[in-house]
Formats: sequence, C-alpha cells, structure tokens
Amino acid sequence: MTAHSIAVIAGDGIGKEVVPAAIECLERIAELHSLDLEFTYFDWGSDYYLRHGRMMPVDGLEQLARHDAIFLGAVGSPEVPDTESLWGLLIPIRREFQQYINLRPVKTLDGVRSPLASKEPIDILIVRENNEGEYSEVGGRAYRGQPHETAVQETIFTRQGVSRAAHFAAALASSRRGLLTSATKSNGIIHTMPFWDEVVEVTVRLYPDVTLVSELVDALAAHLVLKPWTLDVIVASNLLGDILSDLGSSVTGSIGLAPSANLNPDGDFPSLFEPVHGSAPDIAGKGLANPVGQIWSGAMMLQHLGHPEAAEHLQLAFESALREGLGTRDVGGPSSTAEFTAAVLAAIDVYHALDAIDAR
Ligand code: NAD
Ligand code: IPM
Ligand code: MN
Repeated sequence: MTAHSIAVIAGDGIGKEVVPAAIECLERIAELHSLDLEFTYFDWGSDYYLRHGRMMPVDGLEQLARHDAIFLGAVGSPEVPDTESLWGLLIPIRREFQQYINLRPVKTLDGVRSPLASKEPIDILIVRENNEGEYSEVGGRAYRGQPHETAVQETIFTRQGVSRAAHFAAALASSRRGLLTSATKSNGIIHTMPFWDEVVEVTVRLYPDVTLVSELVDALAAHLVLKPWTLDVIVASNLLGDILSDLGSSVTGSIGLAPSANLNPDGDFPSLFEPVHGSAPDIAGKGLANPVGQIWSGAMMLQHLGHPEAAEHLQLAFESALREGLGTRDVGGPSSTAEFTAAVLAAIDVYHALDAIDAR
C-alpha cells in the first residue's frame, strides 16, 4: 500500500469548517479503499499571522515540499490585510511549486437550486494560467501623496507560460468534445492580449482534433450565463480565469460547489487542492458553509495521487447526497455543514455496500 503524505492547511473562516468535513470523507474513503493517507496539519493562516507576524514559518515552503499534496481551505480575514494573507501563503505556494495550471471544473449537479436553471447539462473545464499574467509582481505599486496619484502593475505573459497552459487545455479538449475556447480581450485595448492569442493559436495547431475559438471575455461571460452547455474547455489568463470560475460555479448553483486543482503537471513539486471560494467571513462559524467544493477538491486530489476508483466513489457519494435534496442552504437544501457531511458519509457506505453486492 503506497502511503501519501498530505499537508493540510485549513486556514481561515469557513476553511476551518469545510476542511474537517472533507477530511472525514477522505478518511472513510481511504479506509474502504485501503489507502494510506497521512494527514499533517498546519495551523497557518491569519490567526498564525496575528501571533507571529507571518502567515507561515520562514521555512514553510520547505516543510510543504516534503509532502505529496497540499489540501487547503482558504485564507483571508477581516483582521489581516489581504495583501499579507495572499502574498504570504497562497501565492508563494502556487509560484514556488510551479503550479502553473489551475483546473476548475464547472458541472451541473442534480438536486441543486440554481438561479439560472440550465436547459441542458453543463460540463466545462476552466484551465486558468496560474503563475503569471495580471498577477505579476512587476511594477506593482501605487505612487501616493502626489497631485496625480497613480497605481501601476504590469501584466506579464511569457511564451513558455502561455504555451504550457494552452498545451494542457488543448490536450484536455482533445480527450473530451474537442472544443477549446480561449478567453481574450484583444480588440485593440489590452496590448498584451494579441500575444496571448498568438501563442494559444500556434500551440493549439498541434492538436488537429481540437477546434479553437477565441472569444472576447465580456461576450464570453454572457455566453457562460446564456448557453453554458455549448462550452467544453476554456483556457484563460490568471485574472480572467479567476473571474470566469466564480461566474461558472454560480451558474451551476453556488460558489460553494466549485473545486480546484493547482497543478504542477511536471510532478517536480506537490500540487495544491482547494475550493474556488474564499474564507467567507460573512457566514463563518455558523455551520452554513457548503463543503462540496472542498470535498470535490479532495476527489481531484485522489485522482491526482493515482486513485481514480476512490475519487469516483467520493464523487458519486457527494453527488448522491445533493441529488437527494440534502444540500446546504446556498443550494436550496435544509442541511448544515455537519448534516450534509453526514449524508455524504452515509452515501459512501451505501456505494460501498452496493459494490460488495455486485462483487458477489
Ligand atoms: P468568498 O468566496 O469568501 O465569499 C463570497 C460569497 O460567497 C460570500 O457571500 C460567501 O458567504 C459565499 N460563499 C463562499 N463560499 C461558500 C460556501 N462554501 N458555502 C456557502 N456560501 C459560500 O469571497 P470574498 O468574500 O470575496 O473573500 C473573503 C476572503 O477570502 C478575502 O479575504 C479573500 O481574499 C479571501 N479569498 C481566499 C481564497 C483562497 O484562499 N483560495 C479565495 C477567494 C477569496
Ligand atoms: C482564487 C482566489 C485567489 C486568486 C485570491 C484570493 C488571490 O480568488 O483562488 O480564486 O485570485 O487566485
Ligand atoms: Mn477567485
């Protein structure tokens, strides 16, 4: 039995509620599939910052590097400036560990109330470039105290950075419906975008079975709301992918549903699995948080670690708990975080029993 060491950072706000919920599910799955998942817990985040003046210890990244995967809740607290919480933990992990792909599935789930009830099933994969673009550190500053105060931040696209995201997205599209939509803003306004377009186009030419459509992001946002079922794989820059992924999850019902995998596809460093949502201080501590995004991120982690059957089992279980109408309030259900988690655990056992019957 291969052991996997997983670094767990619950972080802040509802991270402290949804991470324990997902770990309970992962532990049950591990037991039933004889997986050896070793969880190591790190109390890093905003409370740690208030005690130590940093989000994680000086050697935090070295500690994380020893693990096979990182399982994160969310960071961000009203008591700590976001620049500290994000540049002090999440962004260094994504960059230092070359997690240049942020994969964010958007999928219709039965039993979920959506304000934009879709006529047809939605099944989209957003591939977000995760290391560069608008989130650059070059020029990032505000010139204050002058008559004309100014804030500047350069957008940086490199050929290598854009092309590896495009390769990843095109390979995915090729294994699915063969449609790749690139989010752009190249109508003469954003000067870096024609470069993005050119690199994506040249890269996708290497995938003859993939049709590339370049769509202006404002129109694509409308497309995502009006006809999401016509989209397959979307490739987008860091900021555009960030915005489209909150939009996509909400189209399917709630931001609380969406998972993500921050991948280092080369396998040199651990990848990080976290929900798309943040620490939601407005609902923290009330038992209202939807743990699906975190549990689904756990299923993506199992897949990444080489356990597709265990991942599928967990996926079936949370989908079935939703289908039974047992979701949390944000998706129109009656459950608290704990009640929904109990429903997922029960469904895990039911699918296990059904498998045992099939095997006889
Ligand atoms: P948010 O995603 O935390 O919340 C947005 C809205 O969605 C809120 O009304 C919240 O109650 C709701 N929501 C989010 N997750 C939910 C869930 N699981 N179940 C039910 N409802 C849910 O975004 P925000 O309010 O803009 O940010 C709050 C903090 O989180 C900020 O400090 C921000 O920087 C941080 N943040 C962190 C991450 C991360 O660590 N990956 C991601 C996004 C935001
Ligand atoms: C996300 C978050 C982060 C991002 C923030 C908190 C820096 O919104 O993971 O989607 O923009 O990448
Ligand atoms: Mn986001």
